[in-house]
Amino acid sequence: MPNPIGDGGATVSRVDEATETLVRIFASLSQWGPGSDASSTRALEALPPLPPRARILDVGCGPGRQTRLLGTHTGARVVAVDLARDALLGAAACADAPAQGADFVCADMNRLPFADASFDLVWSEGAIYVMGFRAGLERWKSLLAPGGHLAVTEVAWLREDRPADLVAFWNEEYPAIASREEHRAEIAAAGYEWIADFPLPESDWWDTYYRELGERLDEIEREDPGAGRTVVEMCRREIDVMRGAQGACSYVFYIMRKSD
Ligand SMILES: C[S@@+](CC[C@H](N)C(=O)[O-])C[C@H]1O[C@@H](n2cnc3c(N)ncnc32)[C@H](O)[C@@H]1O
Repeated sequence: MPNPIGDGGATVSRVDEATETLVRIFASLSQWGPGSDASSTRALEALPPLPPRARILDVGCGPGRQTRLLGTHTGARVVAVDLARDALLGAAACADAPAQGADFVCADMNRLPFADASFDLVWSEGAIYVMGFRAGLERWKSLLAPGGHLAVTEVAWLREDRPADLVAFWNEEYPAIASREEHRAEIAAAGYEWIADFPLPESDWWDTYYRELGERLDEIEREDPGAGRTVVEMCRREIDVMRGAQGACSYVFYIMRKSD
């Protein structure tokens, strides 16, 4: 998902229009990036049992799909952080399944208002890219109690053989994209023991995320043709390019333990 915080753009009015369109597109979606309850559960099951009264931090929680799952599956208290206030309101109030046992905090992941060693598990799906993979690993490590765990998803190259338009897209949108092997090396260099990783399956992109996003783009174009055209086209381009990705890249779930 493009960053809805609107940290780019040449003029204030351009940023405002782009942000407004992003909020309009994404507000009603049930998730703001690829993922699924099945993959979150698989990552959770790769971890050893959490200690009693565990504390979990969900960074960049968006509409809170994984926040609810973490609370339900572990019984732990979850603190969910996002900079987008609308996301937090939606996540906290979600009529289908309110996130019981979660606290929602509006904060910038670059300056999280928590003491060192506050959490047993830090979780982040589709959001560490905001800081960059290595910077996120390093910064969040201090929030973990000794022996605490980190589970994050980050986009990664899965093969050397990559469609040219896919390479061009990622070079433009996120040139820091790296291979899974490079990410494993970063994990070790940042002071973690690697536990497991697995790429998100195609269904994690298409069954809910891109399906809902495509339907929402159609709806907006029907309601108000030409509205936020640049952002709408950017989202459509991403969907088109990813349709032809042929498994060359995906988000990968990385699960690791803070080294002693
Ligand atoms: C791709 S979305 C993923 C959301 C959610 N984890 C999911 O999978 O549905 C990235 C999230 O990071 C949040 N975000 C972006 N920049 C942020 C920042 N500086 N601090 C905190 N959250 C931020 C966005 O508002 C958005 O909710």
